Amino acid sequence: MLKTTVAGIELEHPIFNAAGPLDATLEELTVLGESHAAAITMKSCTLEAREGNPEPRYQDIPHGSLNSMGLPNLGYKKYIAFAPLLKKYNKPIIASVSGLSLEDNLTIIQALNDAPVDLIEFNLSCPNVIGKPQMGYDPEQTDDVLGKIMHITKKPLGVKLPPYFDFVHFEQIAAILNRNNVRFVTCINAIGNALVIDPEKEQVIIRPKNGFGGLGGAYVKPTALANVRKFSELLNPTIDIVGVGGISSGTDVFEFILAGATAVQIGTTFMKEKHGCFERIEREFNELMAKKGYETIEDVKGNLKTL
Ligand SMILES: Cc1cc2nc3c(=O)[nH]c(=O)nc-3n(C[C@H](O)[C@H](O)[C@H](O)COP(=O)(O)O)c2cc1C
Repeated sequence: MLKTTVAGIELEHPIFNAAGPLDATLEELTVLGESHAAAITMKSCTLEAREGNPEPRYQDIPHGSLNSMGLPNLGYKKYIAFAPLLKKYNKPIIASVSGLSLEDNLTIIQALNDAPVDLIEFNLSCPNVIGKPQMGYDPEQTDDVLGKIMHITKKPLGVKLPPYFDFVHFEQIAAILNRNNVRFVTCINAIGNALVIDPEKEQVIIRPKNGFGGLGGAYVKPTALANVRKFSELLNPTIDIVGVGGISSGTDVFEFILAGATAVQIGTTFMKEKHGCFERIEREFNELMAKKGYETIEDVKGNLKTL
């Protein structure tokens, strides 16, 4: 049994779904409830329901995915209504919040105070809403918004971060997260504005933004590992890290925990393989831990060796 915790909330094992793929409707959330996922993350929500961007807006690519969904979701009130219906699965429920303005975010987070959700993941990093920059790339705005949000939330609240690439940026953001006492960080969101070309058709593969979209899957795993590692060096040890990006096997999970994560999320692999991936990846992870003689997540967490 490889139990773990995120911001004090206990999980049966460290593997669950990432915000976004196949988690927008009650039917999809029910599938997650019945699956081996250790928690249920609900689709990032906005104040009002959104249709999202024009299709095609998601494509499988050989080692991952490209998407520009544009936050299609049912609006926050629906996810608040779904939460009690998902309680019967006895696993933590995570609301993902992605309001389009500070006012929207404050309204949603205030309303979640009275909802039966266990954790809130505040999305600072959607790369695909046309005309909206990713807040996580603006340190001043991130600091300001987080200060206001942490002030009103009564739930353990963490942030979903975009990938960072420069040590100075990691340091700036980590100082803000430490100062605002966020409870956990989830990294990384898709690498924004990647371009994939179909050479046969001499064409882009998704419609929105002339083909530019968020990259997920194996392509992003080294970047995701680097973000988990760097934040584990820079954040207060009380802030848990949830790793996401390119996880498709038990070995991948092991690597993220070595880098410093306490739990991991699965996005593209869940999209491609559907809910069976949680059972398979959990089994592979359990087997690897047993083979290496490790009994708890703490035996491994953060113990990455350097040369
Ligand atoms: C179809 C799709 C929709 C996504 N929607 C969201 C979203 O609503 N909120 C969010 O925080 N991340 C969203 N993401 C990003 C994923 O949660 C994840 O951070 C990213 O895809 C990297 O993980 P992966 O390599 O396992 O896919 C989405 C990803 C995909 C593929």
